[in-house]
Amino acid sequence: MSELNTLLLHCRSGFEKECAAEITTRCAEIGVYGYPQFEPAQGYVIYHCHEPGTAEVAIRKLRFRDLVFARQWSACVARLERLPSADRITPIAEQVAKMPSCSEVMIEVADTTEGRELQGFARKFSSALAQALRQQSLLLPRKQRSQWRLHVMVIDGKTLWLGVAPVANSSPHPMGIQRLKFPAAAPSRSTLKLEEAWHYFIPKRRRDELLAGGMTAVDLGAAPGGWTWQLVNQHMFVIAVDNGPMNEDLMESGQVEHRREDAFTFAPPKPVDWMVCDVVDKPARVTELVVHWALNGWCRNAIFNLKLPMKQRFDEVEDCLGRLRGELASAGIAYRLEARHLYHDREEITCWLSLTPEN
Ligand SMILES: C[S@@+](CC[C@H](N)C(=O)[O-])C[C@H]1O[C@@H](n2cnc3c(N)ncnc32)[C@H](O)[C@@H]1O
Repeated sequence: MSELNTLLLHCRSGFEKECAAEITTRCAEIGVYGYPQFEPAQGYVIYHCHEPGTAEVAIRKLRFRDLVFARQWSACVARLERLPSADRITPIAEQVAKMPSCSEVMIEVADTTEGRELQGFARKFSSALAQALRQQSLLLPRKQRSQWRLHVMVIDGKTLWLGVAPVANSSPHPMGIQRLKFPAAAPSRSTLKLEEAWHYFIPKRRRDELLAGGMTAVDLGAAPGGWTWQLVNQHMFVIAVDNGPMNEDLMESGQVEHRREDAFTFAPPKPVDWMVCDVVDKPARVTELVVHWALNGWCRNAIFNLKLPMKQRFDEVEDCLGRLRGELASAGIAYRLEARHLYHDREEITCWLSLTPEN
């Protein structure tokens, strides 16, 4: 597979610089060198590896879940250009023949206005391509599970990137986008951030253990109550800390106690199962708050947002997560920490700190 020389990473439009800085840093840590290329607001980054085949090394060795800003990725063989509209499939098939065997095709576009306009074309093309590749035995039968998935990133009707990603080390969703329906009864759209965070961070096998009825939670910066609504929806008992007003219907559930207090000085009466925090403040200050909760043993799990500054956003994330890891390690606390720029996040990232890791 020596032809996999390029990584393609999807990210939120406007976060190409952060995505590029992150992949450059993580690749250098495993001895893969190259350079990123992107246009502002294009919704993806290309990372050209210097040594042939090292995009494959990177996509195998790096853990996709360790990347914060990449929503999806693939290791590409080529950018196919000037594809004839009468037969786009033949040149693609020629390339696919050189790639590892896959049993599924994922067609993707950039998460931008231009990208979304291509979605209709991409969908139709996807089924035609899959059918043609299967007929030529270039795609394994659906039932035959393969380690790799074929990725086709449509740039326009004549241009695309062709690549592969390990099924177990990439997002199962096209462009890494987890689509969720807004629950009509929830008091704010922020509710989707916590819902997506649970989907993304908590493995299915641990769902019942970590999100169970009767658990207790503290929601810091809770008003008007979108995150509290999610906790109540899981039948948890919640202390909602915020000077602002909470949604009245939510308060009528009888599962919420509203405390008009400062999130940074609030101490829970008893340790809780979950602490969640959506306070808008400096990321370093929120990091300190989470460290304080962890060192005091006040929660078993935490989900918190780090609002990103205007500049040096990648450096700020590295600093905050590094600080948190350092503090927990010096205190000898077992933990698992994951962070992700979720689809429903804007100028923030979401982190999950588990103080009850599996092993
Ligand atoms: C983004 S909103 C939270 C939205 C909420 N998660 C939801 O889903 O409805 C941020 C909240 O943090 C609160 N906040 C900011 N600083 C705070 C502090 N020091 N203590 C408590 N709440 C604070 C604000 O009043 C605001 O309601």
